[in-house]
Amino acid sequence: MAKRIGILTAGGDCPGLNAAIRGVGKTAILNHGMEVLGFTAGFSGLIWKEYIELDEAKLSGILTVGGTILGTSREKPFKMEKGEETNEKPALIKKNYQDLELDCVVCIGGNGTMKTAAQLQKIGINVVGIPKTIDNDVYGTELTFGFDSAVSIATEANSHQRAMVIEVMGHDAGWIALYAGLAGGGDIILIPEIKFSMENVCKAIEKRFSMRKPYSIVVVAEGIDHPSNTSASAYVAERIQTLTGIETRDTRLGYIQRGGSPTAMDRILATRYGAYAAELIAKGDYGQMVAFRHGKLGSIPLDKVGGKLSLVDPNDQMIEKARKMGVYFGDE
Ligand code: F6P
Repeated sequence: MAKRIGILTAGGDCPGLNAAIRGVGKTAILNHGMEVLGFTAGFSGLIWKEYIELDEAKLSGILTVGGTILGTSREKPFKMEKGEETNEKPALIKKNYQDLELDCVVCIGGNGTMKTAAQLQKIGINVVGIPKTIDNDVYGTELTFGFDSAVSIATEANSHQRAMVIEVMGHDAGWIALYAGLAGGGDIILIPEIKFSMENVCKAIEKRFSMRKPYSIVVVAEGIDHPSNTSASAYVAERIQTLTGIETRDTRLGYIQRGGSPTAMDRILATRYGAYAAELIAKGDYGQMVAFRHGKLGSIPLDKVGGKLSLVDPNDQMIEKARKMGVYFGDE
C-alpha cells in the first residue's frame, strides 16, 4: 500500500524551505505514489490537526519563493508551560498521526526541531529530519540550507556599506560572520568561537590607519561576548570610536538575512535534502536526519543530533590562511 506522509516546517523561517517541501513532495508523489499532507505552522499543525493536502499543483512554482507555504512556529510540543502539571500535546500528536493513518512526518527545521523530532520518534511516531537554518549550526551535517542565502545577503550589504561595523545573525555560531566576512573582504571578523579584546581590535584598525587604509570593515557575529543592554555591533562600534577616535558607524542586518529568494546553491541543497528524505521514507529508514558530509548526502540518527551544535573550529585552515592575509580574528 502506498505510504501517507506529513511535512512540516518549524522554527525561524529561512530561504529554501519551499524548495525542500517541493523536493520531498514531488519525489514522494511521483516516484513512490505516496499521499502527502502539509501541516501548517510547524508542530502546532500536528497538535491541532491543521493541514493541507499537498498535490503536484500545490508544489509547483514554489522552488524560488522565500518563506514557507506551510507557515512555521516555534511551538515545542514536549516543553511544559509554566505551572502546567500535565502535557497533553504529545498524546494529541500521536492520536492525529494515527487518525490520519500517517507512516512518517518529515520535520524541516534547526536544532530545536531535530530535538523534537527525536522525541517524537521515541513515542512511536516515525520521523525524518531535514536540517535548515541560516546559522549552519546543526550538528551532524556540514551544511544546512538557508546559510548560503544569508551569507550572500550579508556579503552584498557588506560590500555596499561604508559603515565599518556590520552585525550578522548566527545565534551562538560564527558561520555567517566568517563566510560573509571572508567573501566581503572583512578586515576584522569577530565570532563567538574566538576570544578577542577590544584593545587588539583597535590596534588592528590603527595599524591599517597608519598604512593609509582609513576604512576597515569589521564583521561581527551577534553571538560575540558583549554587554546585554546593547547589540554586538553597537558595542564594538562605540568601543572603536571611543578608544581610537576614528569615526565609526554600525549596521545590524537583522531579518533581511532570512528573507527573500534562496540562492541557487540553497535551492539545489534543499531539493536534494527533500528528495533524499522521501527516499529514506520509501525504504522505511525512519528516525534519521538527512545530512551532508564529505561531499556526499547521507543520514545520521536523530538521537545523535539533539542538544549539540556545530560550531566553527578556531583552527580551521580558512581562518589560518586569512590571518596570514592580515585579517584579525582575535587573539591566537
Ligand atoms: O536561527 C535563526 C536565527 O535567525 C538566529 O540567527 C537568530 O539568533 C534567531 O534566529 C532569531 O530568532 P527570532 O526569529 O526568534 O527572533
